[in-house]
Amino acid sequence: MEKAKKDSAYRAGAKHITPETRVLGVGSGSTIVYLVHYLRENREKLHPDLVCIPTGFQSRQLLVENGFRVAELDEFPVIDVAIDGADEVDASLNVIKGGGAAHLREKVVASAAKDFIIIADYRKMSEQLGQQWKQGVPIEVIPFALSPVMARLKEMGGAPTLRMAQRKAGPVVTDNGNFVVDVDFGLIADPASLLARTKALAGVVEVGLFCSMARIAYFGMADGSVQIRE
Ligand code: A5P
Repeated sequence: MEKAKKDSAYRAGAKHITPETRVLGVGSGSTIVYLVHYLRENREKLHPDLVCIPTGFQSRQLLVENGFRVAELDEFPVIDVAIDGADEVDASLNVIKGGGAAHLREKVVASAAKDFIIIADYRKMSEQLGQQWKQGVPIEVIPFALSPVMARLKEMGGAPTLRMAQRKAGPVVTDNGNFVVDVDFGLIADPASLLARTKALAGVVEVGLFCSMARIAYFGMADGSVQIRE
């Protein structure tokens, strides 16, 4: 599995991070670690003044530890290329993200990018969202709105679960001080419509459905090849 993650990251890095890439969005998760390894091993091919915009604490630390300059969107509101992992990618490049509870900032970074690229291993590849990722659609909610949002999500046919922390009593708290509700909607026939309906609920900050955002996805396969969807 680690080899598949690495293969996707290295292939995408070699293709999309050129010497002209000045501002790079760097996502979150375990596959992104290999993208930072790619950057470390290919410094001579990078823009001399490369600036990275991380999507969260994890990637920020990784980049700093490896000697890359990190900055905020305030300083660089337009990103040349953003590369990020995924929890599931369908045949039309709709994506579920937020398994690591970072999807709000990931979506902000992806939206600020001229080009948004996904890297993933073969487990993330599906025809229809909900086939592979069984933990539901991650929805970030302000704590004040948790109960009404959960009730509305049930009315919409979803099965919401408040995501709980592993090593402390209580819920996961995001980098933005909010909760995450994972909502099982079964197979998702129309991701864009589901995104619009869930995002419209008062108190929902962001939904881990990325529709019409990714231009291309690289999947590291079990046989050592890389499959590309675009
Ligand atoms: C973080 O919230 C997620 O969107 C990650 O990008 C996603 O879970 C991918 O993580 P892995 O690369 O660890 O599978």
